[in-house]
Amino acid sequence: MVTTRKDSETRELAGKRALVTGGSRGIGAAVVRQLLDAGAEVLTTARSATRTVPKGAAFVEADVRTRAGAEAIAAAARETLGGVDILVNNAGGARPFQHAWAIPDEEWQDQLDLNYLASVRLDSLLTPGMRERRSGAVVHVSTAAVPTSAPPFLHYTAAKAALQNYSRGLALELAPFGVRVNAVSPGRTATPGGEATRGQWASLDEGPGQDTTTPPLGRDGRPDDIADAVLFLVSDRASWLTGRNLTVDGGEFPVG
Ligand SMILES: NC(=O)c1ccc[n+]([C@@H]2O[C@H](COP(=O)([O-])OP(=O)(O)OC[C@H]3O[C@@H](n4cnc5c(N)ncnc54)[C@H](OP(=O)(O)O)[C@@H]3O)[C@@H](O)[C@H]2O)c1
Repeated sequence: MVTTRKDSETRELAGKRALVTGGSRGIGAAVVRQLLDAGAEVLTTARSATRTVPKGAAFVEADVRTRAGAEAIAAAARETLGGVDILVNNAGGARPFQHAWAIPDEEWQDQLDLNYLASVRLDSLLTPGMRERRSGAVVHVSTAAVPTSAPPFLHYTAAKAALQNYSRGLALELAPFGVRVNAVSPGRTATPGGEATRGQWASLDEGPGQDTTTPPLGRDGRPDDIADAVLFLVSDRASWLTGRNLTVDGGEFPVG
């Protein structure tokens, strides 16, 4: 039988076991779909199951903001997949506040738990197996807004900045074991969460207004634009790539 280039590309992750957090919609759902198309076995998570969880993926309901949630996800991954070769820490999100000084303590903690510590906890539970097998790929989904920071999302960008810094350090620690760790930083992407957050931002009475300029490439991102970058980073095509942050933003942000 003749194997076309497309056949071999679509099955390039056959035999791989992948965990994607926050795969019930938006960027996470696109990553899950692309992983399934590439032949991987996929487990995904969210706080509640919906019909938008891509068909073909196993699902576990858990809150990534707690140690107990991370442990439940890791246990489900061991049970349903037998281990994880690809870990995509995607669940995250932001709530805008008019001013930095108006952000309550519990909101800072919540953003650190959701956008930073959730990844730290899951990585600590699942990368030991990768280390033992001397192979694996981890992706942290950050944001293109980190270098410029972005009031009214100071707590969010600060947490994602910590995530990027940690991602680089973890990559250096795991490189000798053949485990690669990278970050992907999306710009403005059309997702349910992104649209809801921008709606809340638009309704703030004062403070920094939204940047409504169109990215140089002429449109906002689509979930698959971000998933394409994630798929590349977890594939063998990126086998000499670790410790990096790939900004995918249509050229919008000056640094990335
Ligand atoms: N969209 C953008 O413009 C944009 C830009 C830059 C960076 N990002 C980053 O991209 C990632 C995905 O964003 P998105 O726009 O696709 O968001 P989204 O549409 O809101 O989807 C978020 C996913 O994460 C899950 N989730 C949220 N909080 C969770 C929690 N505490 N525990 C477990 N699961 C949770 C959601 O399900 P449940 O709500 O049911 O739990 C959902 O499946 C995030 O890390 C975000 O910061 C997005």
